[in-house]
Amino acid sequence: METSRIKIALQSKGRLASQSKDILAKAGFKFRERSNALTIRSSNYPLDLLLVRDDDIPNLVNQGIADLGIIGANVLKEQQLSKPLAQIETIKNLGFSKCRLSLAVRKDQNIRDLNNTKIATSYPAILNEYLSDNNIDAEIINIHGSVELTPFIGIADLIFDLVSTGATLESNNLKEFKTVMSSEAVLIGNPQADESKTKSITRLVSRITSVIEADESKYVMFNALEKDASKLIELLPGVESPTVIPLADKNKVAIHAVCKETVFWETIETLKENGASSLLVLPIEKWVS
Ligand code: PRP
Ligand code: ZN
Repeated sequence: METSRIKIALQSKGRLASQSKDILAKAGFKFRERSNALTIRSSNYPLDLLLVRDDDIPNLVNQGIADLGIIGANVLKEQQLSKPLAQIETIKNLGFSKCRLSLAVRKDQNIRDLNNTKIATSYPAILNEYLSDNNIDAEIINIHGSVELTPFIGIADLIFDLVSTGATLESNNLKEFKTVMSSEAVLIGNPQADESKTKSITRLVSRITSVIEADESKYVMFNALEKDASKLIELLPGVESPTVIPLADKNKVAIHAVCKETVFWETIETLKENGASSLLVLPIEKWVS
């Protein structure tokens, strides 16, 4: 591989794998996918994917073997707390793979005080930070995999694990006790990256930023009585300056706005209740500010 090509480390299998590739595809980078390949070359950008285990991504970026990486904030934080990774900067939250690290307990148990409990986890460093920040004296049981079983076989009183939909807790008769950290996929980089690459890295980051902003944004259009316009505009989430267009009916206007936050059904219903009609909500493909 030529040195001026950017290398981005992605998880090869697992919760982040497909969405990491999707975001690059949406940002216009083309890849000829080969099954079992560990590196994939882009056909339209100086970019190579390194497909690796997610645990390895922070090290690869820290050592400059990869210039960028996509990793769960939870995995990154666990590693940053347990070893020196000075050459990593978080460039962007990517908004997908949202999950949380939570303490959970058996449904049939009521725990009031974490002191003197045993907690099983594969995130010992994050748990340890939480316990010491809160002056809790509990024992950490470090375990990889099947953490959910430990409260039922006498190994632990609680678990500390990743929760996404909650289905794993539910099917193991566990209930969430406390959320300790929210997590999502993040783009990380090495600030010492080779100067010959900085231009293409900057362009790549700004294309990814456009995709994320466009994903959250919607183009909203509706008609209303002119007297209701300002009240309705205030109901729109994340709007900068909407366009207000006069209609043939002198009392009415059309309002067009880019909403830079998620537009929920509740918002649409409230607009309608307050006099908006002919509502259209359109996706935005690219957003360049
Ligand atoms: C995590 C976690 C749970 C599951 C929770 O495992 O350890 O098993 O996800 O998700 P849910 O709330 O949607 O059920 P993951 O799939 O990341 O695999 P790992 O445990 O091997 O890291
Ligand atoms: Zn798991």
